[in-house]
Amino acid sequence: RKVQVIGVPFWKGCGRRGAELGPKGVLQAGLEDLVAAAGAEWAGSVEAKPHVPSGTRAEQGPIRHLTEVRRMASAVADRVSRAHDAGCFPLVVGGDHSVAIGSLAGMTRRRRDLGVVWIDAHGDLNTERTTPSGRAHGIPLAVALGQAEWKLSALPDAAPIRPDRLVLVGTRDLDPGERELIRAEGIACLTMRDIDREGIEAVMERALAIAGRGSEGVHVSLDMDALDPIEAPGVGTPVPGGLSYREARMAMETLAASGRAVSMDLVEVNPRLDPSGRTARLAAELAAALLGRRLL
Ligand code: ARG
Ligand code: MN
Ligand code: MN
Ligand code: MN
Repeated sequence: RKVQVIGVPFWKGCGRRGAELGPKGVLQAGLEDLVAAAGAEWAGSVEAKPHVPSGTRAEQGPIRHLTEVRRMASAVADRVSRAHDAGCFPLVVGGDHSVAIGSLAGMTRRRRDLGVVWIDAHGDLNTERTTPSGRAHGIPLAVALGQAEWKLSALPDAAPIRPDRLVLVGTRDLDPGERELIRAEGIACLTMRDIDREGIEAVMERALAIAGRGSEGVHVSLDMDALDPIEAPGVGTPVPGGLSYREARMAMETLAASGRAVSMDLVEVNPRLDPSGRTARLAAELAAALLGRRLL
């Protein structure tokens, strides 16, 4: 399998500088060697950057830096669909989680039935109406589901993802509007409590059954704040009580064994918040595990 890395040095969806250093951090942590150790072919690493001509007027509204976020998403979508067309596995390295709007747009262009496993402390299901922060990294799933005013289908050829093929894993911090949307749409949400009770392997099998039902391919979106901040401190919005590195690794191994994963986001690594580089290293290790790297 060929892997195309698409680095997105973008922080404007989280409002905190440092996330734009994520791609460099993860590459420097040894991503290429780890991908090779997974037995995958390295098709190279490219950057997707938003082109915002000077003089572009900023859009007024509840989401900050929306103009830049839109441009970024469109650049990422193009890179992702091109990688897919070249027979590559697109590995999108953020940047904040708003980059997933681009990944999902690029993938749904080619796979209308895409399933999504969203591994994150957060729901990222806010809309322009419910966002408490005005930050675009809190809205990508509402955009992808067609629940926000900004719709994925605004990007050329992209299609909304279906709520019954979406599953959240590792959830532990939801805003009121997100809870409502989860209930209204019947979105599967496998929280930290489920993981404590059933164990990560059983939870991932359930996640795969949902995201993989009737779909040829599953997109895995890994927000590094799904991990416990004790182990992965380099994230902008840490929430206590997360996955251990071992659990996250087991989650990736279970997804790898299923053979269903077709694309991945690796997001919210903020090297500024973790000078030790540990978070970037764990992120690279987790990507390699999803791509099939084994201990033995
Ligand atoms: N729910 C909060 C918000 O809407 C936090 C979102 C954090 N998202 C993330 N991808 N880290 O702003
Ligand atoms: Mn701006
Ligand atoms: Mn997120
Ligand atoms: Mn998060």
